[in-house]
Amino acid sequence: MKQLLITIDGPAGAGKTTVSRMLADRLGYRYIDTGALYRGVAYEAKVAGISVDDDPGLETLCRTLTLKFVRNEKGTRLVSGESDITDNIRAPDITMRSSAVSARPMVRTCLLDVQREMAREGGVVFEGRDMGTVVFPDADLKFFLNASIDIRSRRRHTEQRSSVGQTLAEVEKDMRRRDEKDSSRTVAPLKPAEDAIIIDSTELSVEAVVERMLSYGTVTK
Ligand code: DC
Repeated sequence: MKQLLITIDGPAGAGKTTVSRMLADRLGYRYIDTGALYRGVAYEAKVAGISVDDDPGLETLCRTLTLKFVRNEKGTRLVSGESDITDNIRAPDITMRSSAVSARPMVRTCLLDVQREMAREGGVVFEGRDMGTVVFPDADLKFFLNASIDIRSRRRHTEQRSSVGQTLAEVEKDMRRRDEKDSSRTVAPLKPAEDAIIIDSTELSVEAVVERMLSYGTVTK
């Protein structure tokens, strides 16, 4: 059976990660979390003391950075150079910085090649914000996953509770700011591709979303 390239875009907290992982598992595909790449750039910029609006600094950083996903006994890890940075990229300040660096056109250009290279063999589910619109306009199947701000903040809050310690109100405030930033930026703003299938997950379980996705096209194994 043909190995498809499937894209899942949508705002933070819509359930993209869980759904993408499960869909990839069901199909025996690889799963790529492209938000982790933007977080990787944001983290390395912070470590190097490069501010999020310093384009020349970010350009030099991007040229020298090697980000890759490696699977080991801990799961899929983000490796920058020789360092596993997976556990460093989810802190709230890196989350906000990743949104800021993702609005810099040269960072997007730099990650474009990295992402396309990862798609070369097919059989991949790509999760992000501009997968179906910019990075893979010819993807075989495109989904845009959405949910109400209320449910998205609640999900994110439950997910983060033990590690981050933000209140629900703080999570919601950060999420609204990030939605606004991600949707209003001039390069690759968050929006559904014209040919994307839009799924609202507010009242659907993860399993129900995945089943609905599997029902489009002949995407069962
Ligand atoms: O999915 P995430 O929350 O880990 O993404 C972190 C940030 O990166 C988010 O604010 C938007 C940005 N991003 C992007 O601009 N394009 C992508 N394909 C993925 C993420």
